[in-house]
Amino acid sequence: MRTGYRRRLKRDPFEYLEDLRRRTATGVIRLPWGGWCVSDPDLANELLRSPEFNTGTSGFFGDLLPTRTAQVAIGQAARNLLRTRVSEYRDALVGALADLPPASGWPAAGAELVYRGLANVLLHPRTSAGTRRLMDQALHGGVMFRSPHVWRRARAEILRGKLIAAVAEEVGWRRAGPAGQSRDVLDAVLGACPDVLADRTVAEVFLVLFRSIVAPVGSTLAWSVLLACLHHTSDSPWPWPPAWIVREAMRHRPMVWMVGRTVIRPAEFGGLPFEPGDVLSVSPFLVHHDQRRWADADVFRPERWAEPGERGPYVPFGAGPYSCVGASVALTLMTETLAALTRDARLTVTGADARPAMAEGAVPRPFTVLRTLT
Ligand code: HEM
Repeated sequence: MRTGYRRRLKRDPFEYLEDLRRRTATGVIRLPWGGWCVSDPDLANELLRSPEFNTGTSGFFGDLLPTRTAQVAIGQAARNLLRTRVSEYRDALVGALADLPPASGWPAAGAELVYRGLANVLLHPRTSAGTRRLMDQALHGGVMFRSPHVWRRARAEILRGKLIAAVAEEVGWRRAGPAGQSRDVLDAVLGACPDVLADRTVAEVFLVLFRSIVAPVGSTLAWSVLLACLHHTSDSPWPWPPAWIVREAMRHRPMVWMVGRTVIRPAEFGGLPFEPGDVLSVSPFLVHHDQRRWADADVFRPERWAEPGERGPYVPFGAGPYSCVGASVALTLMTETLAALTRDARLTVTGADARPAMAEGAVPRPFTVLRTLT
């Protein structure tokens, strides 16, 4: 087992993965912390799509839900609810942007904007004030992103427990009330989950969704702002529409850093033998930076999304039967937010560093955004 990898991983996780790929002759890299990373795009595609690795329940909800049918129903219900509330999100952004100071600290400000836009969609305004307050606190209190500090993680665990208990109580009230309401994500979960699920389990499912919506949307928004500012330094407006920037940010700096599959029976893959319990992962970063499949793979170039011709494999939302059900609504939310941020305003960044930090994914390191109204 190689040593010293923690330091290198901390310094630049993507650079470290590139280095591991360079030093591995096969398309499957043995990771120093355990498990394997599939770097070859064709093998990655096979891993994410083959029935051999994609049957039964997905890992997304852990063991909270009893069946794949329940997983799919809940994911789709949450996604459908979000889709119907995009215009409300857009309206809520206006207030959130009015409160954004001229110099704001990112990526936290990105998560805050997304959260402010979605707060009433996650838990509707007549949910108990205490529960909504706990959800607000969870955003900043380390429940969303794992802190590197042990004491902060301990505090986040306490907060997480309180939020789950409060949402479980809310679930009990809603279950005793009229059925079939569709006021927020919690109602969507309740409408789609099996009746036998305990109130607390429903609350935990809600929390998984809360984190899986706000964290990647907020972080990808932050990458989009950072990379666009770093690559367009003149005073003129950005030369790219927000949708190209978001897509390119997800290619160049995909927030989900590994998409994993657990081997369930002895199998051979990429010429190597694997045992049940082994974890094989795809790194969207490596797939998106494969020089054989992407032109100028290492360059942030949003205009590539308007160019004709084939693009390389693109897996920021995974692929195959377990791929992200919220992909298109996520793209809508991020594009809307970036458009609102830059409408009649110019963004510049200071303190920027394009290397990611690791916190539940590859998130931008802290930087400051100066927003000047034009
Ligand atoms: C930028 C934002 C997002 C990113 C990068 C992202 C990424 C991902 C990834 C990589 C997976 C795993 C795919 C796999 O294993 O092949 C996933 C699964 C999932 N995502 Fe997202 N996601 C985002 C936003 C959302 C949103 C807004 C929703 C709202 C409904 C959502 C709901 C889900 C669900 C329910 C699954 C589990 C799918 C299943 O197991 O059937 N995601 N997401």
